[in-house]
Amino acid sequence: MYRTHNCGELRMQHVGQEVKLSGWVQTSRDFGGMTFLDLRDRYGITQLVFNMEDDAALCEKARKLGREFVISATGLVRERSAKNPNRPTGDIEIQVTKLDVLNASKVPPFTIEDDTDGGDDLRMKYRYLDLRRTPVQKNVIFRSQVGIETRKYLAGEGFLEIETPNLIKSTPEGARDFVVPSRLNPGQFYALPQSPQTFKQILMVAGMDKYFQIVKCFRDEDLRADRQPEFTQIDCEMAFVTREDILNTFEGLTKHLFKTVLGTELPDFPRMSYDEAMTRYGSDKPDTRFGMEFCELNDVAQGKGFGVFDSAELVVGICAAGQADNYSNKDLNELTEWMKRPQIGAKGLVWVKVNADGTFKSTVGKFYSDEDLNVWVKKFNASPGDLLLILSGEAEKTRKQLNELRLEMGRRMGLMKPGEFKPLWVVNFPLLEWDEDSQRFFAMHHPFTSPLPEDAEKMMSGDHETLKNLRANAYDLVINGVEIGGGSIRIHDRALQEKNFKLLGFTQEQAENQFGFLLGAFEYGAPPHGGIAFGFDRLCAVMRGQTSIRDFIAFPKNNMGRDMMIDAPSAIDDVQLNELFLKVQTEKIKM
Ligand code: AMO
Repeated sequence: MYRTHNCGELRMQHVGQEVKLSGWVQTSRDFGGMTFLDLRDRYGITQLVFNMEDDAALCEKARKLGREFVISATGLVRERSAKNPNRPTGDIEIQVTKLDVLNASKVPPFTIEDDTDGGDDLRMKYRYLDLRRTPVQKNVIFRSQVGIETRKYLAGEGFLEIETPNLIKSTPEGARDFVVPSRLNPGQFYALPQSPQTFKQILMVAGMDKYFQIVKCFRDEDLRADRQPEFTQIDCEMAFVTREDILNTFEGLTKHLFKTVLGTELPDFPRMSYDEAMTRYGSDKPDTRFGMEFCELNDVAQGKGFGVFDSAELVVGICAAGQADNYSNKDLNELTEWMKRPQIGAKGLVWVKVNADGTFKSTVGKFYSDEDLNVWVKKFNASPGDLLLILSGEAEKTRKQLNELRLEMGRRMGLMKPGEFKPLWVVNFPLLEWDEDSQRFFAMHHPFTSPLPEDAEKMMSGDHETLKNLRANAYDLVINGVEIGGGSIRIHDRALQEKNFKLLGFTQEQAENQFGFLLGAFEYGAPPHGGIAFGFDRLCAVMRGQTSIRDFIAFPKNNMGRDMMIDAPSAIDDVQLNELFLKVQTEKIKM
């Protein structure tokens, strides 16, 4: 037997008991006559004591232990004279009578502590050591709890957990596919699923009615803090449902997860149309933990001789409450430069300080009288001491730029409170996005999304302008400005699906070639259906108030898509290449 208890378990009530613990040596402190060891496992840390007077040989043995050695210790639980109130086991210690060294350890390349000295790549290379650190371990344990509660809730709602294949044909979700060569079919490739989208729809045609899967998805796209090349979705589909049924079910799931795992009761989720989100926040995933909503000024700021505003499609600003005194001219110049960086691309930034005495200080005083600016103040509902920040230009671009500024000001002003959760359903996205460069439409969600019922007719016969304005029966769940999930009611009619493929630039042959199986299935009694997928990694990160999903994935990849621990991707040998009929291609790359 390796242990009677774990390292997080013992309390005052155990004093006097003989126990055996096993774990890793976290630290050791030597005080001549006494040696103290902190023993760590997944459950916590317990202090071990070795006394020279009691057993000199045992004490010597303890002194030789290095960090991360694996040991078993038997001894008596006793009350500590100097208690540690920061540790659940801090009232007791173990007076050790027997010590077994189960395995030695090299000196770890970084400290296994909450704040480690290890850089990202080093920690990823030694991920098994990083995973021993409490913050990372807590995240992985948290993820496990969210997964288990998801299964409980969806099973309770009558969902079936069904696996779909990983070696499939390309499913367009907007990213590139990872592909796998087929040895048995020379020159042919599988694609790894970007999502199980078509399979879950086929499951509805097959009568499965309510499907879910916690499933790996693979997307070859540029990586960021909230994106990994392989990530996990809570993927769902339901038949004979309206949008309302789906939103209610997954609002229910989200509330259940917050309640059971975090102990947080979420209120009902508000709904907002895509158009409204763009007008009020310049984003389809607004962080609604704070206001600072957009205020449009075209009617009051144009026609006063300020050419930049006069020629703009949109003049729009935000009011940073109480910030006038916090920003010197130098600070505002810096903020303007920040807005001009290529990542944001603003041409400039107009600011107005509302002084306490009712006067103004601004970059545009030449063009606007105090009387004019007072009209702005009313529009913004601003007060003395506030700072107005205004942008102008082409509407869509300007809104996106102002969204960045709003988020930055929100961060600087401490308005994104940790522990506060503001969920929101964003609904009625555009169905199609027109791309000027390639002169073609793209699906805003994916090609299987149906238009709103009232727009279906227009989709079959509408002109270019009508098509641009079609609305999708699609929805996103947003929490604290993060897109947690997205889904839609699907097209279940062959003619409408064919029309959509056509609008998206597929020839009939291409559509048949790639999606013939789905179009065919629609001819055998496809029920009305719809669904949603949550980004599981993102959901976990947001619930724990973190921005990077990496530490919620046991074995993540770095920004170059590399697994630093196993050193993948890597070259493969000629024999393997030959078997896969790939030799010629790789040789070409080498040249
Ligand atoms: P979508 O593409 O919106 O929808 O993806 C659903 C959710 O998955 C998460 N997500 C990611 N998380 C981490 N890394 C990534 N690279 C990544 N890409 C997406 C996001 C996103 O909201 N088949 C549809 C769903 C449906 O229509 O039912 C789909 O995949 O949180």
